[in-house]
Amino acid sequence: MNYYYIETFGCQMNVHESEKIAGILSSRGLSATDNVNLADVIVFNTCCIRDTAEKKIEGNIGELKALKRASPEKILIVSGCMTQQKGRAEALKKRFPFIDIILGTANQYELGAELDKLCASPKRSKRVSVRFDDRPPIDESVPVTRTSYPNAWVNIMYGCNNFCTYCIVPYVRGRERSRDKEHIIAEIRTLLDSGYKEITLLGQNVDSYGSDIGNVTFYDLLKDIAKINAKFRLRFMTSHPKDLSEEVIKIIAETPNFCNNIHLPVQSGSDRILKAMNRKYTRKRYLELIETIRKYMPNCGITSDIMVGFPGETDEDFADTMSLTSSVRFQNAFTFVYSPRAGTPAAQMEQIPKEIKKERITALVALQNRISDEISADYLGKTEEILAEDAPEENVLVGRTDTGRLVRFAGDRSLIGSFINVKITKNKASALFGEIVNNG
Ligand code: SAH
Ligand code: SF4
Ligand code: F3S
Repeated sequence: MNYYYIETFGCQMNVHESEKIAGILSSRGLSATDNVNLADVIVFNTCCIRDTAEKKIEGNIGELKALKRASPEKILIVSGCMTQQKGRAEALKKRFPFIDIILGTANQYELGAELDKLCASPKRSKRVSVRFDDRPPIDESVPVTRTSYPNAWVNIMYGCNNFCTYCIVPYVRGRERSRDKEHIIAEIRTLLDSGYKEITLLGQNVDSYGSDIGNVTFYDLLKDIAKINAKFRLRFMTSHPKDLSEEVIKIIAETPNFCNNIHLPVQSGSDRILKAMNRKYTRKRYLELIETIRKYMPNCGITSDIMVGFPGETDEDFADTMSLTSSVRFQNAFTFVYSPRAGTPAAQMEQIPKEIKKERITALVALQNRISDEISADYLGKTEEILAEDAPEENVLVGRTDTGRLVRFAGDRSLIGSFINVKITKNKASALFGEIVNNG
């Protein structure tokens, strides 16, 4: 076996988990390829947050049937959240009998051992390895092949305890398990020593970091990261409005390395819907939190997730979401149509007609686009420090402002990983364009 190909669906957590899968495969001597036809091992790392995600993945797996028929020696592995739903692994096996290994999220680190078992079996019998364990162990020894330089993803915790009534994540990712603070700090130091310039901490609810181990909080972790003496950027996701504290907001504001950028999903502007979602905060508490953030960081880039069409959402509830969106003025928002997930409480509630969901999402997207455009216009003429992150084309760089806005500008790819002053000259369809400012 020479090459592996990994296709990742879903959130940053999954992107990082794919780096661990890549690490396991690289440690066995395989190299990455982006050509699926060349690959000896093909991995689909899946997501099931919405029905659209699952349908797309099923379509993509189906497309591999011909390739597997032509080259049966290729090994197809399907892992991640989709496989961890109750009964889903068996259903996948039945529908796509050519999948060689179906691997859950709880035991993703066993991918290497599963490969060995597959290859050792004389008839290469297909394997289903999904473990229903709410507290699977954290394996600190999994190698990581990073793919996002100059950014590095760092898990601080796994799983979720919140059980928002619409969400499948707690069922497929188990309960909250925090990593030891010392392990996290050591990983960050090693990454910075090896040249990474941006660290993004990952957790479904970073603000409750440590609550499962006791004696340590997210604030304690940030305090230790703030002491690291190097120039880098720190971001984290996701914060939960019920748990984000003033001391955390303060330390972000006070620490030059910490980006003024907070992702704070609101989901809905209606108290009635927030309650039915089990979000455990009110519209008032959310708006106060936004005020606190802006008190300490007037220019903070605040982004959000907003959902329409949750069961029982009336015109009035939706109007509350629109008015909250107007008054907060998010820099950007991911907008979603509620999608019923089997096994979650909201899937049992009375559903909203499709047409109404469609009308509401169209109105919300139009409102948010207008706001994002207006905020972009405020950047015109300003000079911003940009971390050059990628070169999508010859002599074109993209990178982000401290507040998290993507900017495109001319420059050589050797500048990837450098902090550069860029003057914002153009704003088109909420994208920013700029020019390098010559300091000499
Ligand atoms: N842990 C994070 C987000 C996890 S999922 C948080 O608590 O915010 C990312 C986003 O997907 C959520 O914020 C929510 O807006 C959306 N989402 C989750 N389940 C959904 C569903 N069933 N239908 C539509 N959107 C959903
Ligand atoms: Fe899902 Fe809520 Fe947990 Fe986020 S906090 S992962 S939305 S259950
Ligand atoms: Fe992420 Fe999708 Fe799983 S959003 S946690 S990959 S269900």
